[in-house]
Amino acid sequence: MAKEYTLSIIKPDGVERNLVGKIVTLFEAQGLSVAGIKKVQLARKVAEEFYGEHRERSFFGELVDFMVRSPVVVIALHGENAIQKNRDIMGATNPAQAAEGTVRKLFAKSIGENTVHGSDSAKASEREVGFFFAASELL
Ligand code: CMP
Repeated sequence: MAKEYTLSIIKPDGVERNLVGKIVTLFEAQGLSVAGIKKVQLARKVAEEFYGEHRERSFFGELVDFMVRSPVVVIALHGENAIQKNRDIMGATNPAQAAEGTVRKLFAKSIGENTVHGSDSAKASEREVGFFFAASELL
């Protein structure tokens, strides 16, 4: 399996509770490396563009309101099978269904405030890593 990049976002509820280090520790423990990391206050238009595929969903307004509430930390992760590994570490979107030991089981409050986002495919990871990082910033 080739090494891949994937995007993780530690959402406002995670950054507000100072969970960045604890979450990065979970990634690193599974062999993923931080290739790039930055703290960003998302503008509403930027959050709407990032989540554009959900624009027609009933929860879109709530999702955008939440994502612009306070800063997020965006992380380009790198490693073997990084896309699937990151999703396994995050756990199910709904924390009530997330497996023991996953980020969402440990920290998430609800399906809306679910602490982390992760790219769900190779196509999404390419778009999402490129959304926040220039190639020269992946180290
Ligand atoms: P994420 O992986 O960031 O991708 C889209 C997000 O939409 C998802 O995590 C959830 O936080 C959010 N989401 C999905 N379903 C719902 C819902 N029913 N109500 C509120 N937010 C949702």
